[in-house]
Amino acid sequence: MRAALQNSTTGENPDRVTRHDGPDHLVVSEHPVLRRFWYAACFAHNVNAEPVAVTILSTPLVLWRPSPDAPVSAALDRCAHRDAPLSRGWVANCHLVCPYHGWEWDRAGRTQRIPQFPDAPHPTRSGLTMVSARERYGMVWICLSDDPVTDIPPVPEYDDPAWRRVPEYEFDFDCTAMHLLENNFDPGHVAFVHRNTFGNPDRAELTDTEVTREPYGLRTFGQVNVDSRPGELGTTTRTTVSTLYAPFFGHIHITYPDGLRHLMVKAITPVDDESCRLVQLVLRTDTEQDRPAADILAFDVAVESEDRALLDLLPTPFPLAPHLNVHARADRNSLAIRRLWTDLVTGRWLPSW
Ligand code: FES
Ligand SMILES: [Fe+2]
Repeated sequence: MRAALQNSTTGENPDRVTRHDGPDHLVVSEHPVLRRFWYAACFAHNVNAEPVAVTILSTPLVLWRPSPDAPVSAALDRCAHRDAPLSRGWVANCHLVCPYHGWEWDRAGRTQRIPQFPDAPHPTRSGLTMVSARERYGMVWICLSDDPVTDIPPVPEYDDPAWRRVPEYEFDFDCTAMHLLENNFDPGHVAFVHRNTFGNPDRAELTDTEVTREPYGLRTFGQVNVDSRPGELGTTTRTTVSTLYAPFFGHIHITYPDGLRHLMVKAITPVDDESCRLVQLVLRTDTEQDRPAADILAFDVAVESEDRALLDLLPTPFPLAPHLNVHARADRNSLAIRRLWTDLVTGRWLPSW
């Protein structure tokens, strides 16, 4: 029977032909559509009196807060005068000050002062190139385009009194945003990468995940056996609904058998073609008395460090075409995500929410 499936022209077995109508690898700088999303740059409380440097999609930016209760402003991190990095400057009198010759700008990037000749007219192109910035979920969000595809991803639990907030960390990875996102939707690695925290290689068997493509990205349901949870030893099972808001935002909702719910908000930002940043927040349905935030943070830092130690070893660029890797039954999520990114960067699909 198998022989009958041979294509008489090419000799290929059509069962074995992989149809992948897209680039072999995903290199974020090659796809302008990726500039049309909101990405978390950092936690908002980390932008205080001093300007902060961040890079998103290879674009150096300066973030600053003109006054303690003002919203964060963002601009390209380069002075029009002599190209100095503005993030090395400072804030004075509600103005951002360039560290090289002291030019000053207001929150909207308009030139307010050129100190060498304060009464002379300002050159017409002396203002900053501003970038859209917003604050949500205690994070600063940036969009590099004037034409965003969608809004910032929704996290309805953030303002729900049934949930408490555990702000966590900014974690920088020497791997692509795709590697990190895929890892967070990969149930098969838990037993091994996390064998020293909550995984158990002797309990590695999985049940199939259920993956559905959604207008915003995709949603998966699955269960993973683990040996502990924050602050507690003991075998249990994580039942997880993981939601991907394209391209790189994860909303990972874990329910334990006793009813405790633990939501990981994973805002993944492509820094450049080879690195990314995670800005993470946890929401829980228990109380500080039930489980101190310090326990949750310590657990998640240990787990994140385990992931990073492995992910930082993986080669770039990220393989998008299925034939570049081998896939097994536990890889349904990963294959669906790669198809989604293929559709996004080839213009076949744009998410909406
Ligand atoms: S380089 Fe910025 S003021 Fe001269
Ligand atoms: Fe992990």
